[in-house]
Amino acid sequence: MPTLARVNNIDDLRLLARRRLPRGLFEFIDRGAEDEVSLAGNRQAFDRIAFRSRVLNDVSQRSLRIELFGRELAGPIAVAPTGAVGLTWYQGEIEAARAAAAAGLPYTVSTASITPLEAIAERAPGDLWFQIYVWQRPELADEVVTRARAAGFRVLIVTADAVVPSNREYNKRNAFSVPIRISRRNVGDVVRHPGWVWRVMLRHLLADGVPEFANLPQEFRTDLRGKGSRSLMPPNAPITPAVLHRLRKLWPGPMLVKGVLSADDALLARDCGADGVIVSNHGGRTLDGAMAPIEALPAVADAVGDTMTVLMDSGVRRGADVVKALSLGARAVLVGRAPIWGTAVAGQTGARRALDILLAETDRVLAQIGCSCVADLHRGLLTPRGGEIAWAR
Ligand SMILES: Cc1cc2nc3c(=O)[nH]c(=O)nc-3n(C[C@H](O)[C@H](O)[C@H](O)COP(=O)(O)O)c2cc1C
Repeated sequence: MPTLARVNNIDDLRLLARRRLPRGLFEFIDRGAEDEVSLAGNRQAFDRIAFRSRVLNDVSQRSLRIELFGRELAGPIAVAPTGAVGLTWYQGEIEAARAAAAAGLPYTVSTASITPLEAIAERAPGDLWFQIYVWQRPELADEVVTRARAAGFRVLIVTADAVVPSNREYNKRNAFSVPIRISRRNVGDVVRHPGWVWRVMLRHLLADGVPEFANLPQEFRTDLRGKGSRSLMPPNAPITPAVLHRLRKLWPGPMLVKGVLSADDALLARDCGADGVIVSNHGGRTLDGAMAPIEALPAVADAVGDTMTVLMDSGVRRGADVVKALSLGARAVLVGRAPIWGTAVAGQTGARRALDILLAETDRVLAQIGCSCVADLHRGLLTPRGGEIAWAR
């Protein structure tokens, strides 16, 4: 794939994806909520942390492998649930899931994805996780969770930080909406990206018809035009203890609550039977002003200790970010946008490139700070940037 020869990092993939995707779709993936304070804050928070390396260690033999819920992973990274992958490449969800499987990493299918979860399980077997939203009639989620269980998904992620629709004003400006409403603006946007029309949209239309949200409860399953559902989709429901107890009964495998920022919520999730939490602010896409997960992580990790698995996401773009998160108590990180950019550029090969870049960078930083494996990481290897010169003030 000639374009990938020029790709050195995740931002290179993002820039290539920006050229390929219609602006409405690119911004839907790339941007955050409202004034994007949390989106920017996620990156700034990582950058405020510096390494205090140990350089006198022998790091010639290294391993990134970890064990997570009884399975060995090639590294401490999983692909986060994202609803838009299937619009960036023909059968993008299958391509991205295959890339994760080939890299030895888990892939999470989102409730909002367009490929039926059964097709992903069949055509991209690997360590598959499933993410569920819960609607105001909680029993609606049962149907979807039961499908995921029957298809062999291993881990259930319950997303708790999307209780109401987010305020993303650029989607309105770009006329990017579901159901799609044809306007001069979005038609012009699509026409300016004929490559995407041919490679993704026309292929999809010819082979499978109008993309459909194939993993919603049958009653509300619609295509992107909003056609097909028998009744109106009820709004998302808050993830209360009662909801978690209900899901716990349905799901025998590991269950994680995603979108947690406070230690108290983590402890509550544990009391409701969750095996772990994902410290996350949805990549800055839901509550603008939500604190950066990397800053919330230490308190959550301290509160739950060894009684729960703590994962984190939001803002991971470099291996150094992975190492910081693990040093602060995460067992692994999830990445959302990074593999989407890879998929948008080159399908499975591009998604694999994104994951390989992150794994290679993580390995390099591990060596540079004097560690041979992720178990060697601890908070003493980190310091607030500039913190140690406070005496000078
Ligand atoms: C385009 C897009 C769609 C997303 N869709 C979902 C979703 O359906 N369910 C969910 O729990 N999180 C969703 N997320 C959030 C991700 O799972 C993850 O929390 C976030 O992307 C992590 O931040 P990062 O993109 O900076 O890695 C989505 C994120 C993006 C960028």
